[in-house]
Amino acid sequence: MDNFELYNPVRILFGRGKISEIDTHIPSKGKIMFCYGGGSIHKNGVYQQIVNALGEREYIEFGGIMPNPEYEFLLPAIEIVKKEKIDFLLAVGGGSVIDAVKFIAAAANFEGSDPWTILSESSSVKSAISIGVVLTLPATGTEMNGNSVITKKETHDKLAFSTPFVLPKFSILDPELTYSLPQNQVINGVIDAFIHVIEQYLTYPSDAPVQDAYAESLMNILKDEGQKAYTLEKPDYNNRASIMWSATNALNHFLSMGVKTDWSTHLLGHELTALHGLDHAVTLAIILPGVMEAMKEQRKEKLLQYAENVWGLTGIDHNSVIEESILKTEQFFKDLGVKVRLSDYDIGQETIERILERLNSRGLTYLSRCSDVHLDHVRDILESRL
Ligand code: NZQ
Ligand code: ZN
Repeated sequence: MDNFELYNPVRILFGRGKISEIDTHIPSKGKIMFCYGGGSIHKNGVYQQIVNALGEREYIEFGGIMPNPEYEFLLPAIEIVKKEKIDFLLAVGGGSVIDAVKFIAAAANFEGSDPWTILSESSSVKSAISIGVVLTLPATGTEMNGNSVITKKETHDKLAFSTPFVLPKFSILDPELTYSLPQNQVINGVIDAFIHVIEQYLTYPSDAPVQDAYAESLMNILKDEGQKAYTLEKPDYNNRASIMWSATNALNHFLSMGVKTDWSTHLLGHELTALHGLDHAVTLAIILPGVMEAMKEQRKEKLLQYAENVWGLTGIDHNSVIEESILKTEQFFKDLGVKVRLSDYDIGQETIERILERLNSRGLTYLSRCSDVHLDHVRDILESRL
């Protein structure tokens, strides 16, 4: 196992009715900015629950944050935070709202001239305004991590930054808040979380049995609960609770400790969202089988372990076992109603050339953190997904 340092002080308040505990965890003095998305919280009653929980506190609202939050939309929010001398940011929504708030929190305290620098250089963040979270869509793990993903509309760049300064002070995880989600968003969450685990697991053996068993358990739970969520006629509390807590655990920094991680599927997926607006999880379901196929020789050992412990596949013909595990992974996404080919979304060779050009111009050599998915693999990966 490699050396590591883990710091995760996020307070999790999990379960029914936990919104009422906001009162205990947000300072009673000072000014709050309550941030939300395109309006789901008005329809499902969450807005009123938050207003009640905030009580007599002084707050302003910043709504309308879109999926895959845009830098240009967030710039005015940074100015409002500075002008109104906001002390605390409350994010109520899915990954997009929470990531947007993390960016606002860091950018409001940023001393450089161009806040976009934060996206290319996480270490440029030296402090941030305190954040509290009420999660309404289990998927990204952002409620318990220091990551944020922001899109610059002008250039179609979708980039991430990561800093402990934006770790939320608390996150409220009430499975009942997910009942109003459309089914495709529940499924997106399951797939995103499953692939977060894969990005931190399916690389090379690191003599890390704790991380491996943790990862395999999460994948098995997401598989079972995801299938259940897809077939259930109405939301079931324990099903949603398991999905919610699995998604948080899938990306709260624990799994990546002491092991070699990948993240090339995410990097390529972000390109597809930036260029074509596809849902984040959908892009991952398209790309992942291509990365698995391209890395099947180098990552043989871990692929065989995955095949056995997640799909129950064993055999003396290792190549067939690996091929079958790739097919099973793809089938898992299809069985949840997600189409997994670029052509299913009318995306063709032109986009592949554009992505290659964009990655080349960024001066990237490797896409994976474990330095095996080379820029030269990208054409094969993408063309195999046409
Ligand atoms: O905007 P509203 O009206 O709230 O509607 C949202 C949005 O349209 C809706 N929604 C959320 N909760 C709901 C609800 N609708 C009904 N009932 C509810 N309870 O769902 C739609 C999608 O929301 P969004 O926040 O965009 O989804 P998600 O949570 O999947 O977040 C995706 C974003 O997170 C980034 C992605 O790249 C993408 O930008 N990620 C962030 C990560 C992180 N910070 O660690 C890691 C991930 O890999 C990912 O990259
Ligand atoms: Zn993701």
